[in-house]
Amino acid sequence: MVCLGNICRSPLAEGILRSKVNSNDVFVDSAGTASYHVGELPDERSIQIARINNIDLTNQRCRHFTIYDFDKFDQIYAMDSSNYNDILSLARNDQDKQKVNMIMNMTNPGESLDVPDPYYGGEKGFEHVFNLLDKACDEIVRNL
Ligand code: 4NP
Repeated sequence: MVCLGNICRSPLAEGILRSKVNSNDVFVDSAGTASYHVGELPDERSIQIARINNIDLTNQRCRHFTIYDFDKFDQIYAMDSSNYNDILSLARNDQDKQKVNMIMNMTNPGESLDVPDPYYGGEKGFEHVFNLLDKACDEIVRNL
């Protein structure tokens, strides 16, 4: 799960997907295309909306996306088109590129919609993001 800062959207996506899969079968992680927040906890508002939904994000720490993630993961989900393009610009070959999708294409195939960045908004934005990611993760699980 990849967003810009790895403190708002992708930590939520990681926590939600983890809550829906067996950790013995599926490894879920998240990262940011930017490095401003490396080592930090997720944003307090993401922690809060996750907690309301019985998901704990407090063991997560922000990290930067690297090309080695193409080797470690089978599927890479970008939260928005900017993240998507940044990830693709690091791809080394077609195999890397084929792993990358925009997460909203799971619920809205082919539309390449963004998960809106809630960083500069209020709590409602985080609730909206949670609901979008929850549905998208249901589809990821259905397709595993
Ligand atoms: P995220 O949100 O990409 O969903 O983690 C953001 C978090 C921090 C910043 C931008 C977006 N920032 O500019 O610091």
